[in-house]
Amino acid sequence: MQGIAQFMETWNEWGAHAWYEIWMGEIAKIKQKFATIIGADPDEVAIAPNVSTALSSIASAIDYSQRNNVVLADMDFPTLAYQWLVKKRLGVECRFVESADRVYVPPELFESVVDDRTALVATSRVFFTSGYIQDIRKIADIAHKNGSYILVDDYQGTGQIPLNVDAMDIDFLVTGTLKWLMGGPGLALVYIREGLIPQLHPTITGWFGHRDQLQFKTREFEFRADAARVEMGTPAVPAVYAANGGLDIVQEISVEQICERTRYLTNDLIAQAREHGWTVRAPVEPEQRSSIVMVQIEHPEEVVKALVDRNIITDSRPGLLRISPYFYNTIEENAIVIDAIAEILASRK
Ligand SMILES: Cc1ncc(COP(=O)(O)O)c(C=O)c1O
Repeated sequence: MQGIAQFMETWNEWGAHAWYEIWMGEIAKIKQKFATIIGADPDEVAIAPNVSTALSSIASAIDYSQRNNVVLADMDFPTLAYQWLVKKRLGVECRFVESADRVYVPPELFESVVDDRTALVATSRVFFTSGYIQDIRKIADIAHKNGSYILVDDYQGTGQIPLNVDAMDIDFLVTGTLKWLMGGPGLALVYIREGLIPQLHPTITGWFGHRDQLQFKTREFEFRADAARVEMGTPAVPAVYAANGGLDIVQEISVEQICERTRYLTNDLIAQAREHGWTVRAPVEPEQRSSIVMVQIEHPEEVVKALVDRNIITDSRPGLLRISPYFYNTIEENAIVIDAIAEILASRK
């Protein structure tokens, strides 16, 4: 909120000149903060309006002539697979590792699908319908052993679960500021490993990806030397301001402490839900759980609406009610949510 007000003030005071004097600085700040959170260098970071746009650019930069398959998990968020499903007519094959229980995929399954024709393994760190945290380092090792790259969709992980791109040996990472970075919609953040940047030549681009952006050369195109070569057009500056505020809070508390706190709340919620006899789609091991608690119920969207009437915000996915406590929630609030759900379910009988 404060960030958006600050944006309005700069716009009012500086007009279009705010671009050079101030707004570019805000963009540099968000890259710096994100780089610190994931253990990267700011030159390895780019911004995009959303994850889908960022993925389209990266997907357009990969050479599929020698390696024509891309490996994904059938529990990944659909926008990830869409990038390569639409490339079928270019000869790209999507291979899916399948979850038997809709909670997780054993990392070893990737081994059976990845081969020397795999261009990329693209998967999430945290599954959006079970909260399961994948062992990215294991999957990265499988990808690299076969000469493939690994791309991680970390939309459901960044901010709530610690991550270091070097330790996990990640080549590409995409995430958004809407969820656990508390920055709202309109901004995605991209990491590209330094050594890969010079060989990436996306076929969709824009003037923000040009080396000499402000020279306005109409007849020539040269990519920027850093990860921002995947950027396209004018970014949504208000979203950058909002996200800078969100990332400040995350950095002040630290992702490690957020993780500790949310794990405590999540484990309590799961235990309480199970006491009521509800089926919870949750990983068995507490260290594989994130702050996404999925309760299997009929017509979850109706329960979400009834909870809004009680000032409780949850969400639904087909057949599932999603409860996502964050660090500012409490054990007492967990009990209030569980009691409210029990009452709503009882009133439907
Ligand atoms: C895992 C994951 N990836 C991506 C997205 C969103 O993608 P986009 O920024 O393109 O809307 C979501 C949205 O909830 C998500 O859960």
